[in-house]
Amino acid sequence: MGFLDKIFKKKEDVKSPKGFNSLRVKEVVKVTADSVKVVFDIPAEWSNQYVFIPGQYVTLSILVDGKEERRSYSICSGPHESLAVAIKTVPNGKVSTWANQKLNVGDLVFVSKPEGNFNWNTKDAFIVAFAAGSGVTPMLSIAKHLENHIGDMRLFYGNKSESSTMFLSDLKTLKNTKTHLFLTQEIKEGTTNSRLNKEAISELIKSDLNLLKADAYYLCGPEEMIKSGLETLKLFGVSKEKIHYELFTTPILLVEKQDEVTEVFKGTSQVTVILDQEKIEFTMDENSNSVIDSLNREGYDPPYSCRGGVCSACQAKVIEGKVTMKMNYSLTEQDIENGYVLTCQAQPASEKVIISYDA
Ligand code: FES
Repeated sequence: MGFLDKIFKKKEDVKSPKGFNSLRVKEVVKVTADSVKVVFDIPAEWSNQYVFIPGQYVTLSILVDGKEERRSYSICSGPHESLAVAIKTVPNGKVSTWANQKLNVGDLVFVSKPEGNFNWNTKDAFIVAFAAGSGVTPMLSIAKHLENHIGDMRLFYGNKSESSTMFLSDLKTLKNTKTHLFLTQEIKEGTTNSRLNKEAISELIKSDLNLLKADAYYLCGPEEMIKSGLETLKLFGVSKEKIHYELFTTPILLVEKQDEVTEVFKGTSQVTVILDQEKIEFTMDENSNSVIDSLNREGYDPPYSCRGGVCSACQAKVIEGKVTMKMNYSLTEQDIENGYVLTCQAQPASEKVIISYDA
């Protein structure tokens, strides 16, 4: 009996959240002592829904103590491989602990379609990547796709020790990716005994100025590493258009992006939301928290995952009116120019607003 089957007495009680499919777990593979790779079976009729761009993630929705929990995990699959994510246990992590301790082959899990803006552009032939811990998962997918292209990746990958390094053996088999490990708790030949901090990244660049010739820079991992990478690359004159980063949690250190918050609208706004071709109308004012919260209050279930401005799962398009965001750590300037907003952070800034999840 699968996980969801155990929770719900009758199969018909299992209701998929909007935008999710119930997928059968095909494999659960131990990657390190505290992480697993979960491979899903995609029925043929849903295969089109799970075509992904390397770098994207899926969101898992599970019930823990009767409460729905959603978490996003980067896809780590290569071309022609089954959809897979890797999940590392985090302290007090409800979903990560469930995946590492309870999830079994044959279980059913609600899985969203691939999402996210941390996308490999096939034009990027020479990539420099910085990852730490489970931040390697999107890099692995990009690296595997690079094998079929004319392109190279230089991956600088931080971990505590070699034994805690996810996917090291997979990375070693790749011809177009050269991985260099940074280990904080182990001294080993061919690796660097350091954190991937500003000094280490700076030394790397100074010792190989070719790293400045990359077409794109990808960073994924703890916020501190991303901040070090961003600041160091900026210091060496790398243009921000070439830099892509993916956060797993709402940041504390990268607060300057919050400057994007603009004026607060005072008054009542008539909001229309288009969700799955349905028109939903309600009002919001300056005390309303976010478009998503208002939709939930109205009994609707729009897409979301982090609710912290990080994942972009709640992205929708403003068709009419003005909307401000409290935080934004995932939409690019171009996305915003094109009218996209994160509805978990969105508040109306005009008397009439129309937002569409379908656009
Ligand atoms: S739900 Fe993650 S950015 Fe809104």
